[in-house]
Amino acid sequence: MYLDKYLEKMLNGEYGWVKAKALQIIVKVGEALGAEKLIPVKHVHVSGISYLNIGEPGLKLLEELAEKGGRAEVYTTVNPSCIDLLGETRVIDQSMYKQQLLINKALEKMGFNPTYTCIPYLHRLPAPREHLAWGESNAVIMANSFYGAYTNREGGPLALAAALTGYTYYAGLHKLENRDVKYIVKLRNELHSEKEYSLLGLWIGESFNDIPLLVFQNKPFFHELKLLLASSAASGSHGLIVLNGITPKGTYIIDKAERTSIDIVEIKKNLDKYLGEPHGSILGYIGCPHLHPYELYMLYRIVSNYKRVKDQHALLVSIPYTYKNYFDKEVALLKSKGIDVVYGTCPIVSKLRRKYDTVLTNSGKAAFYMSRLHKLDVVLASLKEIIDRVMEK
Ligand code: F3S
Repeated sequence: MYLDKYLEKMLNGEYGWVKAKALQIIVKVGEALGAEKLIPVKHVHVSGISYLNIGEPGLKLLEELAEKGGRAEVYTTVNPSCIDLLGETRVIDQSMYKQQLLINKALEKMGFNPTYTCIPYLHRLPAPREHLAWGESNAVIMANSFYGAYTNREGGPLALAAALTGYTYYAGLHKLENRDVKYIVKLRNELHSEKEYSLLGLWIGESFNDIPLLVFQNKPFFHELKLLLASSAASGSHGLIVLNGITPKGTYIIDKAERTSIDIVEIKKNLDKYLGEPHGSILGYIGCPHLHPYELYMLYRIVSNYKRVKDQHALLVSIPYTYKNYFDKEVALLKSKGIDVVYGTCPIVSKLRRKYDTVLTNSGKAAFYMSRLHKLDVVLASLKEIIDRVMEK
């Protein structure tokens, strides 16, 4: 692999042990993937920072890196942690509070921005064709498919190494030739709810290994695309789905592509495991991926017309940590109605305090992971349906 003088010196330890180790990781992975060089990145997003997932070994590694002088070389944001950072939740288990704060301290010592969110594009909008190194599959697929940026689906260690060096390997989705559409998938009907976009995403993730181009009958809203893309990246390995008329031109190529079409009725038949009837105690969950300000405002408007969450149910909403500085009025109203608003976490990277009979969510990604990881009965529904079910009018 070609390395310029600056990177050679870095690899030889002239800029310190941490940078040398981090660069070694990137070079090794890059060589394994056939990269001929490294490229600088504009923004790194580090995932895998939840104590529940990385435990003591992860905490010790981050503390060691911070102690030995590891510092962010580029603008870096971080994914959600395993606790509600404001500590007011009744739904999320807070027993790992101290350990998670130690992780956060190490990250912040290294100069990573304390965003604790899975929607890093909220903090810095990616530009078409700029190179990023992002972990967190939903963020990666938004960056590539919606914003037209170039990033692979990085694992936690690779994104961490990119943050500490400012570089990543030039392979995969960083190269236009690898952003080649293989399937053109036409929707035969209009989609009308978040539930349908989540189902479509889950189906695409399961059905295609290569890059599809989606042709819609009606233009989706931003929050619907967010759910669609996150769901497809959860059930599949996509880092890019080309969205007809939305993905910036020049960020993908179409040479030979197979044409196919799909009906939402067929998708519903395929994924009817997520369309059962909610039963018993219900945990309504909204905010996977974390709510964008406009989704939070939409929720605030809807909830204003309801009394409060019914005693036997709970309603959980997960939002970025930085919202603690904004949206006081909106969050206060949600909380006054018994809604559990958590900052900088989500129920997938954390534990729940208790078991519910059904989880009712609008997120295909949450449905996918909560049914698999937490072995819960999960039903997909739209925002309004969730609120109708768990709140008193
Ligand atoms: Fe974000 Fe947690 Fe969903 S990290 S994308 S809210 S699984």
